[in-house]
This record gives sequence, structure tokens and C-alpha cells, in this order.
Amino acid sequence: MTKHKIAVMAGDGIGKEVMPEGMRALEAAASKYGIEIEATHFDWCCAEYYVKHGRMMPEDWAEQLMAYEAIFFGAVGWPDVVPDHISLWESLLAFRRGFDQYINLRPVRLMPGVPTPLANRKVGDIDMMIVRENTEGEYTTMGGRIFDGTDREVVIQEAVFTRTGVDRVLKYAFDLAMTRPRKLLTSATKSNGLAVSMPYWDERTTEVAKNYPEVRWNKEHIDILTARFVLNPDRFDVVVASNLFGDILSDLGPACAGTIGIAPSANMNPERHFPSLFEPVHGSAPDIAGKGIANPIAMIWSGAMMLDFLGRGDARYRAAHDAIVAAIESVLVSGPKTPDLKGTANTEEVGKAIASAIG
Ligand code: NAD
Ligand code: IPM
Ligand code: MN
Repeated sequence: MTKHKIAVMAGDGIGKEVMPEGMRALEAAASKYGIEIEATHFDWCCAEYYVKHGRMMPEDWAEQLMAYEAIFFGAVGWPDVVPDHISLWESLLAFRRGFDQYINLRPVRLMPGVPTPLANRKVGDIDMMIVRENTEGEYTTMGGRIFDGTDREVVIQEAVFTRTGVDRVLKYAFDLAMTRPRKLLTSATKSNGLAVSMPYWDERTTEVAKNYPEVRWNKEHIDILTARFVLNPDRFDVVVASNLFGDILSDLGPACAGTIGIAPSANMNPERHFPSLFEPVHGSAPDIAGKGIANPIAMIWSGAMMLDFLGRGDARYRAAHDAIVAAIESVLVSGPKTPDLKGTANTEEVGKAIASAIG
């Protein structure tokens, strides 16, 4: 039997609180379906590691992590101790880039038992896959300041779009659309205002789309697209977006579907040359950290996505994934809920209920 080595990084804040529940569900599903997981824990985060070493990770982080198939990641960030652009560029963003995890897949579904803030929406009305470009675009460290501190101060932040980078994420999104009943794809753009990058993005979308005559696709400017997420979420099936637009849409979508506390994600290198990373969409939530009330479902669902990835299409792993999602659904319908879902349960109560529903 294959033994899957995974690196577990709980991180900061509620990352530390939801990770034990992510592991509990993962272990329950793995043991039920005869999947062997070997987990190694890493304390690379702001709270302990940075405070001690003045950096987020050791110098040989990439070498160390290459021994693992996947990284199971909570959240990092503790802005009172380390500025966010430092902690994130020295950990999560370093993983995405260094391990070429160019697909960030973020499912958004209105789940049974979850109240949505949108009027008259029911289960089935929100069911989309956000495919976010994850290694380039608006996320760069390129740029700088000149005339610093003067009234002529200038700050420049570059964006980078490469043919390889744009085409591969579009291809992934169109391939995904082909596997879905509606075969719909929406591309987020802003080619009216961003006069260089987004016309290029549109041009490549038109080109890649030629290989997918069965996919019905359109492009929508990001401003009206966000409005339509709220007004007509049922329009969307696969949504493909650049790094920044995808980031924004993947908090908005889950908010429309009730809470960001349940939204999972998979940061993948589909070629498997490097470890892929599975994490909640949310962050370390300093405002509720330490209270034990964070919703563990995003973490648990991310573990399900990791199992599916590890299985490379194998039915047993797919079943383990489905069992976790079904357990989440059953607990959402009639089990304990955390306060973001108007419940009074704590993180551990929800985690234990899901693990026991997995069986
Ligand atoms: P956040 O996602 O941490 O929190 C936003 C809001 O959502 C907060 O009110 C929080 O309480 C709530 N929330 C988040 N997760 C929840 C959960 N599981 N259950 C219940 N409520 C939940 O975003 P932020 O406040 O912008 O960022 C806080 C820190 O986290 C920053 O340092 C930021 O850079 C970092 N961050 C890290 C990641 C990551 O590691 N993947 C992602 C986003 C933000
Ligand atoms: C996310 C987060 C990160 C991002 C931050 C923490 C850098 O918001 O994973 O969505 O912007 O990608
Ligand atoms: Mn985000």
C-alpha cells in the first residue's frame, strides 16, 4: 500500500485551532478507506518560529518539503508581530511560487443547512468552481518607491502575465468546465481599465477557448462580476480569474454561500513535480483566535480535497473525499454549529461530530 507523506503546518491564530479537527477527519476517512498517511508537523509560523529565528522558515525549507507529496496548511499571519507582506511572502506565497502551484481551486457551494445572506436562494443555486491563477499576475514583489518621503513620492507595483502562466490556468479551467454538466465558463477581466494585462488575458482566453467548442464561455469585467455573484450566483459554473481577482472572488463567493468558515482550497502543481498545498481560504483570524470558536469545516473540507488529489483518480480516495463532504453536510443540517453559522458550538465539538459522522 502506498504511504503518503504529508507536511502539516498549522500556522498562526485559528490555524492552530482548526488543524487538529482537520487531522481528526483526515485520519477517520483514511482509516475507513485503508489509506495510509504519515504526517510530520512543522512549527513554521509567526508566533513561534519567526519570533525565535527572525524568519518564517529555515533556509532549506524547499529541500525539506520536497520529501512530501502535500502540505496540509492552516493559516499564517500575525500582523501585530510580523508585517503581513513579510510573513506571507516568506511562507504561503513562497510555497505557491517555489512549488509552482499554479492552480488554486476553490469550490463554492451553498450547503444544506447553511443560511445565505442572499434572498430566496436555495441549495443548488450556488455551485461554482473558482479557478484562480496562483503564481503570477498582480502578486509580485517588483516595483519600488522613489522620492521617498517627499511630496513627489512615487510608488510602483508591477504585475506580470506570461503566456505560459495564463494559458495553463485557462486550459485547466476549460478542462474542468468540460467535466461539469453545464459546461459554462466565465472569465474575470478588466480590459476596459487595465489597458495591458487584461486585454492580453482576454486574447489568450479567446485563443484557448477554440479548443473547447462545447464550453459556453463569456468574459465579465470584475466590477459587474462581483455584483452578479450577489445578484445572480446561479449564473456561474467555472469562474477563471487572475491571482488578485480570484482572491477577491473566493472570499465573496463563500460569503454569499453563508460563511468563509467552510471554504476550502487546493493549491496544486498538477504535474506533481512539487508538493501541492491544501488550506482553508480564510486566514488566521486574530479577532477570534484563542476563543475556540473558529469553524473547522474549511480545514476539514481541504483535507478531503487533499485525499482526492493523493488518489490520482482512484475510486477509494474519491470515496474518502465524498465521505468527508457528506459528513460535513450531515453535520451542517443537524449537528453542532459554530457562531459564524449562528450556532453555539466550539471548534472541537464540530470537528468531533464530523469525524464521528465519517464513521
Ligand atoms: P481572515 O480570513 O483571517 O478573517 C476574516 C474574518 O473572517 C474575521 O472576522 C474572522 O474572524 C472570520 N473568519 C475567518 N475564518 C473563520 C472561521 N474558520 N470561522 C469563523 N470565522 C472565521 O482574514 P484577515 O482578517 O484579513 O486576515 C488575518 C490574518 O490572516 C492576516 O495576517 C492575513 O494576512 C492572514 N491570512 C492568511 C491566509 C492564509 O494563510 N492562507 C489567508 C487569509 C489571510
Ligand atoms: C488567500 C489569502 C492570501 C492571498 C494572502 C494571505 C496572501 O488571502 O489565500 O486567499 O491573497 O492569496
Ligand atoms: Mn484571500
